[in-house]
Amino acid sequence: MVDLQTQYMRLKDEIDGSVLNVMDSTRFIGGPVVDGFARELEAYLGCKHVIPCANGTDALQIAMMALGLKPGDEVIVPTFTYVATAEVIALLGLTPVMVDVEPDTFCIDLKQVEEAITSSTKAIVPVHLYGQCADMEGLMNLANAHGIHVIEDNAQAIGSDYHFSNGKTVKSGTIGDFGCTSFFPSKNLGCFGDGGAICTNNDELAATARIIASHGQTQLYVHDLIGVNSRLDAIQAAVLKVKLPHLDDFIARRTRVADRYDAAFSSCEGIKTPVRGVQSKHVFHQYTLVLNGVDRNELKSFLAENEVPSMIYYPIPLHKQKAYAMGNTDRNYSTTEELCANVISLPIHTEMEEQQQEYIIEKVLEFVNKG
Ligand SMILES: Cc1ncc(COP(=O)(O)O)c(C=O)c1O
Repeated sequence: MVDLQTQYMRLKDEIDGSVLNVMDSTRFIGGPVVDGFARELEAYLGCKHVIPCANGTDALQIAMMALGLKPGDEVIVPTFTYVATAEVIALLGLTPVMVDVEPDTFCIDLKQVEEAITSSTKAIVPVHLYGQCADMEGLMNLANAHGIHVIEDNAQAIGSDYHFSNGKTVKSGTIGDFGCTSFFPSKNLGCFGDGGAICTNNDELAATARIIASHGQTQLYVHDLIGVNSRLDAIQAAVLKVKLPHLDDFIARRTRVADRYDAAFSSCEGIKTPVRGVQSKHVFHQYTLVLNGVDRNELKSFLAENEVPSMIYYPIPLHKQKAYAMGNTDRNYSTTEELCANVISLPIHTEMEEQQQEYIIEKVLEFVNKG
């Protein structure tokens, strides 16, 4: 699905040099490379504070802890997402309340969010799925009107822009109280292991999140809060420091791949290409088709027989997962159920050559037209 090898080869000298410098310094935990990367990411995102941590799941957990959410508090999440979003809610004893998504953007459905708000609702977690933002303007208006916190799950959309109707444009992840991201290797900005970050424009929340990420420690061996041990290590930061200046180029390369897929599939009956919302720039973490009348299992097998990988993100919605039954309500989840049954993601990455892509397109069209 992604070609990390070729990307590494292209940046090898820079990355190797950066990693070797950390090895020479033996500053493996914290230190100037981690701090330097955090400051550079703040500048890129245009946000006041970036707090690096061990992974995107921890980022969500630390954000929820920093907001002081307590067991029994309700947190609204889309049911069409990766499990991490709901996992941390449940781990903290909070109550996930699952709502459906919009059919075009695959992001949280604001009408259902509004209906789901109760006096116990303390936070909403919009997930910027596949690389484009949820309707953050509408969501922030709703959340502010009810005094509810917003934590953006920005794991799949780092680098995306969000345009407000007043003309203001900001980076995804910098709109809510917190934005949480993942540097998992296959993400748009990926390191060589696990990594994550929390960002916020709120000084007080930033200070609390920083303390929580470091065992709740306010001074050496003084623990005023219960925290976690969640650190981005310096070797990962060294990789990310090299890759960050390339992020906009990575996004442009992914977008060129998406444009070529769109052109090939747009007039093909049975395939719906991704809808690009007007308020958000799509950064194409995934290129996901919605099939209509095309047998997905057979298409997937046909592609595999022809050595074309494909993935289903996600086959089972949260509300149907045994572990998360507590968040299932009697709401209508028809859009998510339709998507879980019909989405298929094709390979997309920064190194895709036109010839490779033509082959993938040819195989998809061969199967769909045959049917
Ligand atoms: C939407 C979403 N949220 C959270 C995460 C968790 O990130 P990590 O794997 O770094 O913990 C991911 C990563 O796969 C994700 O896609």
